[in-house]
Amino acid sequence: MLTWDDERPGQEGTTPAQSMPSDGAGLLAKRVNADDKRIINGKTDVNQLVPFKYKWAWDKYLAGCANHWMPQEVNMQRDIELWKNPAGLTDDERRLVKRNLGFFVTADSLAANNIVLGTYRHITAPECRQYLLRQAFEEAIHTHAYQYIVESLGLDEQEIFNAYNEVPSIRDKDQFLIPFIDTLTDPAFKTGTVEADQKLLRSLIVFACLMEGLFFYVGFTQILALGRQNKMTGAAEQYHYILRDESMHCNFGIDLINAVKGENQDLWTPTFRKEIRTLFLDAVELEYRYAEDTMPRGVLGLNAAMFQGYLRFIANRRAVQIGLDPLFANEANPFPWMSEMIDLKKERNFFETRVTEYQTGGALSWE
Ligand SMILES: [Fe+2]
Ligand SMILES: [Fe+2]
Repeated sequence: MLTWDDERPGQEGTTPAQSMPSDGAGLLAKRVNADDKRIINGKTDVNQLVPFKYKWAWDKYLAGCANHWMPQEVNMQRDIELWKNPAGLTDDERRLVKRNLGFFVTADSLAANNIVLGTYRHITAPECRQYLLRQAFEEAIHTHAYQYIVESLGLDEQEIFNAYNEVPSIRDKDQFLIPFIDTLTDPAFKTGTVEADQKLLRSLIVFACLMEGLFFYVGFTQILALGRQNKMTGAAEQYHYILRDESMHCNFGIDLINAVKGENQDLWTPTFRKEIRTLFLDAVELEYRYAEDTMPRGVLGLNAAMFQGYLRFIANRRAVQIGLDPLFANEANPFPWMSEMIDLKKERNFFETRVTEYQTGGALSWE
């Protein structure tokens, strides 16, 4: 006769998702103890959200939900008039907008697929899964927002949506990412060995620190710079909301990475760290090339060289956030106004502002 304290027979070798209570044969699954939960390779029932262990993940889930927005809420009329006016924007500004959207219209689909088909399966903490479900929907909203901008402006959809195949500076960024996404979405991939767990950790780092945490920042800065000059203010408002979401995604990803590291200290070897540093350097180079391609000449008071400093500044920050040494010496932030929008220390105020704006239906100020 089994008691509450017995190990459930057959648990060995089953995946957590299959660990469900028996309902008929007199077998009773062990109740979940929060201390037994693990971010990866956990054996507790993933269908039981509580008792909480990873409260930081649940708190981010709540914050993400409270921050909900939809693209259609943003008025695009001024953008449409500006885009249709031949004197409204310079050729360089139009190129920048199109290349910018060319990256983002597919980037968030990559992000969503990475979460739904990859990361989610390998994370065994239900609080983190709950956040990932929210994040996946936010990625859908972001793809919707970019599509909504493309449609509003009457851009050539084929040109924009195929840019990730046809524009080398965009294609190179995506090709850098895809092997790390493929690792997690491969149906045969399973965690549970040091090698496999390092593969997972590597992909989590690439996704949070280099995709969401670095590859988005030239693009965000460009459109927000347009908004600050009172151009494309509808698009800029959408990007502002997306930036806030992505800042949360990046923070969650970094917390997730550090939690995996903390629970699996054998993964963080000198060789692994060295490899991650190399990936950071490669990503900075790719994003810099994208900056050059989108801004072959100075535009909006921005130029590619300024972004070199900015990307180094961000990469240093991401590296330190996951426990690596800074990659570059004394890099300062050349865009302090971006820092105000994304500074994590101001996130709470920023977030509260958004809630107020959302409730009153007001627009963001670009002063
Ligand atoms: Fe996104
Ligand atoms: Fe994201």
